[in-house]
Amino acid sequence: MFKALQGLRPAGKLLREVDVNNLPRHVGIIMDGNGRWAKKRGLPRSAGHRAGAQNLKTISEFAGEMGIRYITAYAFSTENWKRPKAEVDALMQLLLDYLRDRDQLAGKNVSIRVIGDRSALSDEINHEIDVVEDYTKDRDGMVLYLAINYGGRQEIVRAVNELCQNVREGTLSPGEVTEAMLSARMYTDEVPEADLIIRPSGELRLSNFLLWQSAYSEFWFSDINWPDFTTRDFTRAILEYQNRNRRFGGV
Ligand code: FPP
Repeated sequence: MFKALQGLRPAGKLLREVDVNNLPRHVGIIMDGNGRWAKKRGLPRSAGHRAGAQNLKTISEFAGEMGIRYITAYAFSTENWKRPKAEVDALMQLLLDYLRDRDQLAGKNVSIRVIGDRSALSDEINHEIDVVEDYTKDRDGMVLYLAINYGGRQEIVRAVNELCQNVREGTLSPGEVTEAMLSARMYTDEVPEADLIIRPSGELRLSNFLLWQSAYSEFWFSDINWPDFTTRDFTRAILEYQNRNRRFGGV
């Protein structure tokens, strides 16, 4: 499998150090620093988001070839509506363009799924999400979850409300709620919890991303802005993850 990757610069030699038997199953990525990337080049912020979207394809294709099964990428948070309308519109247009250009978004053998509160998204975007999910559903490579209008707290509240509804209907007693019941009601119910969360651009916070799924995640931070984050940086994050001692609360 790695043969196909060896030619991929700039990951180069570093790749040989990766232990394919100890890959994170699920990697979360906070695609931060697009605005700063654009500013440094005298470009509008939307150009940074466009470069960021392009990079998501590069990294997810690379990760898939490496053998990583799931990536969740934070594309738009429930708080991002607070940005200037022009930027929100540009981000929504970018999402629409990419969803329409299915192969550009997904890359080879990647299947796309969207998580988040879709009720606030336009009919056009919702339609394209349905189309792209269906178009890529039979692919057996990596699954790329795009978090759009996603917030970890919103996801947990939604799960709690579903359980309250069960109590109201008499199918669940209030004292019987378990972690497994909540897990099963997260958007990512079919996916292992996030083993590794990557946040470039120098910020050291989670920003409401995968709150439930990150209880035992390893974190990898760097100063690189997301559009500049390369396959080599991704490989470095994987290698560092493989050197961590994960104890899950044990000794
Ligand atoms: C944070 O960078 C990034 C976002 C709020 C949006 C991320 C979205 C994309 C990369 C586009 C996704 C689109 C597709 C089609 C997958 P920032 O704007 O906060 O950067 P800054 O902190 O440097 O200002």
